[in-house]
Order: sequence, then structure tokens, then C-alpha cells
Amino acid sequence: MALITKAIKGTQDVLPSAVYENQFIERAMTDIAGKFGYGEIRTPVFEHTELFQRGVGGTTDVVQKEMYTFEDKGGRSITLRPEGTAGAMRAFLEHGLFNEALPQKVCYVISCYRYEKPQAGRLREFHQFGAECFGTPSPAADAEIIALANAIFDFLDIKNLRLEINSIGCPSCRAGYHRALREYFEEKRDELCNTCLERLEKNPMRILDCKSPVCSKIAADAPVVIDYLCADCAEHFESVKKFLDAMCIEYTINPRIVRGLDYYTRTVFEFVSDEIGAQGTVCGGGRYDGLAEELGGQHTPSLGFALGLERLLLLMHAQNTPVPQPERCELYIAPVGESASLEAAKTVNDLRLSGISAQTDVYGRSLKAQMKFADKLNAVYTVVLGDSELQSGEVSVKRMDDGETTKLSLENFVEEFLELSISYSTDSLTDLINSENPDFSKFIGGLL
Ligand code: HAM
Repeated sequence: MALITKAIKGTQDVLPSAVYENQFIERAMTDIAGKFGYGEIRTPVFEHTELFQRGVGGTTDVVQKEMYTFEDKGGRSITLRPEGTAGAMRAFLEHGLFNEALPQKVCYVISCYRYEKPQAGRLREFHQFGAECFGTPSPAADAEIIALANAIFDFLDIKNLRLEINSIGCPSCRAGYHRALREYFEEKRDELCNTCLERLEKNPMRILDCKSPVCSKIAADAPVVIDYLCADCAEHFESVKKFLDAMCIEYTINPRIVRGLDYYTRTVFEFVSDEIGAQGTVCGGGRYDGLAEELGGQHTPSLGFALGLERLLLLMHAQNTPVPQPERCELYIAPVGESASLEAAKTVNDLRLSGISAQTDVYGRSLKAQMKFADKLNAVYTVVLGDSELQSGEVSVKRMDDGETTKLSLENFVEEFLELSISYSTDSLTDLINSENPDFSKFIGGLL
């Protein structure tokens, strides 16, 4: 039978040798979000299809072309989440979190699914860190959530990211904008793709993020929404900018950002990089004051963002951003003979229970092969345990970096080894903390 050894197109494995990077950034993000008052929320991978049709919007590319939708055995239409906002809002409404003190702030690390054409930074299964702030219309909240994304990038020491902001107004000021867009695109209707012809009737703003080269070229000269804001929306945007200025957060105004999902109102923003190819938007978000009502809830002005973890990692690799290395194996015990194997099994177990990363042979290797293996593990210390050590009750612990050996008793091995390893800490995190990057170390200190 043929081996099935290829992952599905657009998905990727993260192997143990690389997963520590994901673990580090995910933990950093949730910890930083915690400092901003965001608690983690976990929602299901799949939801009723209607949630996304109504939430994300029926005229978006995501809903029209990219969703993984199927019928379950009970005949329900189910969709793997293409993003996290709709599910988080559903949970907020379902569990009556609107009865708690507002705003309610939640964050998440999730997998998402979109049937897009895979390329660098664009996958069919990808991961997002997201933050959502439910129940506040205040422009201070817009600036605060941007400050959260900014703090994450700062902590990770990401360079050359541009924060671009825009306002796409509310439904009332958008009516005038839609008229202007229809007028503009009507004249070019012969050149538009079929999907955009449909969008022209239903939601002309969606033409602005059509991926077809012809449509996007036409869209480049279309009227911009910021010129059509009503007085309230214009004032809101001015105030967001003042709060950003007060926090010394640099931004540029990009009147062409409209975002690809229908729920946005007023402030929208993106963090963009030029260093990772065509898919340079690492983070995107904005306000969605109408989403709760769209899903059947009461009016709940809200906002949020999501950051693509794969794109962030691409950028970190491009910039050689330091990430603390995973814990090294502190001690490898190489037993020779059956009695020694039993003693080694007991000792490594005790060491692990005391919080030390230790290993011994569970494969049946010769002593020579075990020492090679310990080398592969990059063990800090090794011990050879044979009959003579068992008889004398003493072992020689060898520090692999410089060959120095120390005699320890078998009877009090765990305590004595703890003392020895503390006095010579090769903890790579410590190395990093002492490294030349003071901001990074300050934050890591705070996270530990
Ligand atoms: P989005 O712009 O569709 O917004 O996605 C947010 C981020 O997810 C993007 O900036 C990108 O980094 C990453 N991303 C999106 N699609 C892919 C893909 N196919 N492959 C790899 N990465 C991808 C949202 O999802 C909104 N829910 C954000 C939000 C939260 N707005 C308010 N609250």
C-alpha cells in the first residue's frame, strides 16, 4: 500500500525542533494582552455556516470563495472558522457577557481555514493571535487596541513595520460613498470581473479588495471613503489619532484600506511589512459596531485585530529576531547492564520530578552509541553508570562543555546534582537575558 506522507496543500507541520518559536510568541502575546486586561477565550473550530455568512458578510471573498463548508451527519451546514471575530462575538452574546462590566476584553490563539491559493505567507490552515474588545464606542479603545498590537511587535523587537490607519465610516455616511463608488465603477463595468459586477449591485466597497489584477487596477483610482465621512465619524477618527499621538505611536493614514470583511465600521488598521513578499499584512483589525446586531444581539460597539502567526514568523526569520532556545537536556545517564538500567530509570524519574530535564537509554544502545546520542541531545552533563559505580555508590558527572568532572553520591544524587547544575547555569534564556538587547531582556524578565 502506498504511504500517505504528504500534508494537504496549504497546510504545514510544526516540528518539535521549531515549535518553541510558536510557543514563545503565543505565550508572549497572551501575557502582554493580559497586561492590557484581555483574558483568553477558546471557541470551537467549527460553527454554523450562517454565523460567518451574516458576520463576515455574504459579498466577501472569504464567504463567497474561501470557506471550508460541509454538511455534518445531522444535515447541518457547518464551516471551519475562517477567522476568530464572529465566533468570539457569538460566545459573548450566547453567554450574556454583555451583562458584565463593559468593555469585555478577550484574546485567542486559533487555527483558521480559508481556501486560498497557497503562497509564501498564505496558507489554507493558518494561525492567528486575536484580541477583541466588546462594548465600547470610545475612540480611546481604538487607540488602546492598536497600542496592544504595537506592544507585541515592540516586545518581539520587530522592525520596519508600518502602522496604517483609516476610517471607513458608519452605515449612514457610507450611503453617500456607495453612490460615488457605483458612479465610478458603472463607467468601467465592461472591464470588471463577474463577481465584481454582482458586488456593484450589492456592496460596491468589496470591489476595492478584489484580487483580480484588472479590477484592482481600476479600484486604485476609485473615490476614497475618508472623503465621505459624516461629522461624527470624522470626529471619532480625529480623536483616535489624538490618542495615538499621546501614546507616541507612529502611523500613516492610508485612505485605501477598506479590509476584506464586511463587519468593519469607522477605524480600520493594518501593520504592514515590505520584507515578506506580497502577503505583507501581518496584522489587521478595526471597529465593528454593527456585528452584534447583525448576529441578533443588542447594539454593542466593539473592535479588535488579528495577527497572522505564520506571517509574523516569516518576518522574524527575515529579521533574525532572537527567540529563547528550548530547555537543554541537563543530564544524560548512560547505564551499562541491567541493574544500572533500573537505577538510571529511577534516578532520571526522580530528577524530572524535581524539575530537571534528564534522559537515559530507552532504546538498548551500546555505551558508545549512548554517548553519541547524549551529544546529539546536547546534554549539559553525562554520567556513566555501571557495576563499579553501583558498588562504590559514587558516580562521576561530566560537564560536556569543558570536560570537568565532579563526584556525586548515588544516595543523594538528586540534591547534589541540583546544587551542581544551579552553580553552573547554562540556561540559554539566561544567556539571552544578558545579551545585548536590553528591551527584550526586560520583557522576558517580566514574563518569567
Ligand atoms: P484578516 O485581515 O482577514 O482579519 O486576517 C488577519 C491576519 O491573519 C492577516 O493580517 C494575516 O496576517 C493573517 N491571515 C489571513 N489570511 C491568511 C492566510 N490565508 N494565510 C496566512 N495568514 C493569513 C481577520 O481575520 C479579522 N478577524 C481581524 C479582526 C479581529 N478584526 C477585528 N477583530
